Order: sequence, then structure tokens, then C-alpha cells
Amino acid sequence: MEPVVQVCTATVPDLPELADVARRTFPLACPPSATPENIAAFIDENLSQERFGDYLADPDRAVLVAREEARIVGYVMLIHGVPDDDDDVQRAVTLRPAVELSKMYVLPDCHGAGVSAALMNAALKHAETRHAKCVWLGVNQENQRAQRFYAKHGFTVSGAKSFRLGAGTENDYVMVRPV
Ligand SMILES: CC(C)(COP(=O)(O)OP(=O)(O)OC[C@H]1O[C@@H](n2cnc3c(N)ncnc32)[C@H](O)[C@@H]1OP(=O)(O)O)[C@@H](O)C(=O)NCCC(=O)NCCS
Repeated sequence: MEPVVQVCTATVPDLPELADVARRTFPLACPPSATPENIAAFIDENLSQERFGDYLADPDRAVLVAREEARIVGYVMLIHGVPDDDDDVQRAVTLRPAVELSKMYVLPDCHGAGVSAALMNAALKHAETRHAKCVWLGVNQENQRAQRFYAKHGFTVSGAKSFRLGAGTENDYVMVRPV
């Protein structure tokens, strides 16, 4: 029998485990050309316990965790709105108000099971309760597994944007799904 997956809002006691899951899963989304230094710099800047503490305290963000038998096996972060300073995203995301699916990460031993679908369903429900007209995201152009996963959940490519990875720049697709 498949273990039961539970999704709920992350809380302060989750921070150490959440940051650990984030640190372990972020490299999986990076293309082989990304340098370990740039990946490590991104993790230090964005995925520390302290940064996740900031995310939890930010009223414009929501961090949801998926648990199997008490263990955190994945998480998703949502951010309300579209960044003012990114013209590519402004152009690609025309339905407003919009919610960004900013991070979507699942431990490798849980890929292909129910965890990612449970997180996506919870993320879409969150966007709906916030009266969003669409959910948008950026995904590395080489990350075909994630693109396929998003396509299965109704997202389509509507543009492209760059992504700062440490001192490097990566190429993302922008994908959008009406809510
Ligand atoms: C992205 C992620 C959350 C998706 O969850 P998942 O459980 O792997 O998703 P699923 O297995 O339901 O769907 C993946 C699909 O891609 C397919 N796939 C797997 N490897 C693939 C590849 N190399 N190329 C194309 N498709 C691939 C799978 O077969 C599956 O499609 P199917 O259901 O039609 O067979 C998960 O893979 C993950 O955490 N990856 C690492 C972090 C990451 O990349 N996050 C996204 C950042 S934008």
C-alpha cells in the first residue's frame, strides 16, 4: 500500500528539515552545465533555514510541505503576483491576478508517486482561494521531467526568461495555467 501523503502549511519547527530537503533537491533541477559553485551560492543565498524563516513570515508567500509518515518529502512555495522588474514575465503572464509557483521540489525516492500531484493540487487550491486567475512558473529549459509534469497539470509554455544562478545565468521557460 502507498504511504499516505499529507500537505500542510510549513511552520517554524519545520525549518531545519525543510531547508535540508531544499538543499538536497535544488541541484536536481539544474542542468549539467551549471557549476557546483553557482548551485552552492544559490542554496546559501536562497534556501537556508534563515531564508525559509523569512518566507514563512512573508504574507505574500505560502510554503506548503508534503509529509509521508511525518517525514518531509517535498515542498512548494507560492508567491503572489508578478515581479515588476521582469519584463519577460510581465509579457508572458497576462492573466491577473497571478500566483507564482516559485519552488516545487520532491525527494528523488518519491518521484513518480503521489507526492508531486498532492503538492500541485494543494498549490492550485491555494491560488484559487486567493482568487488568482492563473498560476505561473519558471522552469529550466533542460528540465524535461518537470516540464512534462507541469504539462500534465495543465500548464503551457507562454514565454521565456532568464534565471540568476549564483554568478551564472540560466534559461527558463515561463509556463502558465489558468485557475
Ligand atoms: C518536478 C517534480 C516535482 C515532478 O514530480 P514527479 O513525481 O517526478 O512527476 P511525475 O512522475 O508525475 O511526472 C514526470 C513526468 O516526466 C516524465 N519524465 C521522466 N523523465 C523524463 C525525461 N528525462 N524527459 C521527459 N520526461 C520525463 C515521466 O515519465 C512523467 O511523465 P508520465 O507521467 O507521462 O510518465 C520532481 O521530478 C522533482 O522534484 N524534480 C526535481 C526538482 C525539480 O526539477 N523541480 C522543478 C523545478 S521548476
